[in-house]
Amino acid sequence: MSIIKLLSKKLERTIFTTPTHNQKAVFSQNYDCFYKNDFSEIEGYDNLSDPKNSILMAQGKAADILNTKNTYFITQGTTTAIHAAMKALINPADKVLVARNCHKSVFSGLILTAGYVDWFMPETNKEWGIYTKIDPKKLESTLQLNSYKVFIMTSPTYEGVNSDIKKISEICKRYNTYLIVDEAHGALYNFSDILPQTAINQGADVSVNSLHKTAGALNQTALLNINKDIRNIDSLTFQKAINLFQTTSPSYPLLANIEACLNYLNSKNGYDEIQNLLLEIDKFKNELRRFGVEFFEDDFHDPTKLFLKKDGISGFDLSDFMFDDYKIEDELNNAIGCLYLCGIGTTKQKLEKLKNALKKVQTNPSFEPLSVDFQPFPLVKIQPVDTFNRNYIFINKQDSLLKISNKMILPYPPGIGLLYPGEAIQKWHLDYLNNDVEVIV
Ligand SMILES: Cc1ncc(COP(=O)(O)O)c(C=O)c1O
Repeated sequence: MSIIKLLSKKLERTIFTTPTHNQKAVFSQNYDCFYKNDFSEIEGYDNLSDPKNSILMAQGKAADILNTKNTYFITQGTTTAIHAAMKALINPADKVLVARNCHKSVFSGLILTAGYVDWFMPETNKEWGIYTKIDPKKLESTLQLNSYKVFIMTSPTYEGVNSDIKKISEICKRYNTYLIVDEAHGALYNFSDILPQTAINQGADVSVNSLHKTAGALNQTALLNINKDIRNIDSLTFQKAINLFQTTSPSYPLLANIEACLNYLNSKNGYDEIQNLLLEIDKFKNELRRFGVEFFEDDFHDPTKLFLKKDGISGFDLSDFMFDDYKIEDELNNAIGCLYLCGIGTTKQKLEKLKNALKKVQTNPSFEPLSVDFQPFPLVKIQPVDTFNRNYIFINKQDSLLKISNKMILPYPPGIGLLYPGEAIQKWHLDYLNNDVEVIV
């Protein structure tokens, strides 16, 4: 079906995925007509790569709101924000420590910057089958052994796990390591006293946010935030890095959408919407707990991410049941549970629908819970930058053990690599590979 036809069809589905705006304009501007506002940098309009007027003002206001030295508007998603942050801080052959549960854009950032990666394994929760926090003690031991220019990590995770960024940023400073926090899923944190603190307010040098994921804005809207106390690097370097990757024809409707999103979040209506959503989520959880639904929670947890499970059914079957019988789509699922994302635009009615469906889930008392087998520590044989455009051959899967992969294994979402090019294929990976395996020669 053509894209045009696809979009002309009404979506007969309730989606708890990104974006959370429910396909309705949340902010005051009307974006039905993108054409009306689709300009390039014509006379009297500003230039995103060297802003001097309206964009500079809007970004300045965003920096005030978010307590940053600079906040840059990005119209190509957090992917570009991550690439620009990495380019500004990483020179070729600099050592970079990366949490393995980072999004694949960090891997492509390693190719673009020619930084040399060491992977850092986050903690795991076996009961829920998910990655959790970065252990500050483990991080400190790692930084004692080797020096790294930058440490890159994700907080919150998809499931809403927040690491102790305050402690982590203190450790990074002590070892002269820049800290980049991928806060793509934490765009609401500045606008509620109940949600965790922002990474910037806890001392991260750089953070990135996807406004389109949970903050009600349109796809591709994102922010790159720089801490007021960042050491030895000026704002021009970040602008230069952004200009390497960002389009020279940015979309004015998207830029205005970013501005409108931040104005809304920073208004009484925005604060109230988040507050009400959190209250509704609390009620939702309390009621469902009486029906045997369990929710993933821990300290600093972001409650807008409903990662839930029920005894007697796997996450995979729960996801299928909700989709087939109730046309409710989750953001992702694993063997244990399903993740339903909430944010700006998630209505009480929508939550009610999810709640009523979850109450009706059929379970099997003799069902044996499945477990999640976490990936092994990656064996990097060739650094990411040297993996691009390599000669490769296809070999039979049986012969691929310890050969160097030319492909990613990347379930999406969440977009976390189970195997990246340049890494040795381990026994654990075999189940995820096709019979013909692409290996570097
Ligand atoms: C943790 C995380 N970081 C970065 C990204 C990339 O964001 P975007 O889709 O805005 O480019 C994603 C997208 O799913 C993500 O989940």
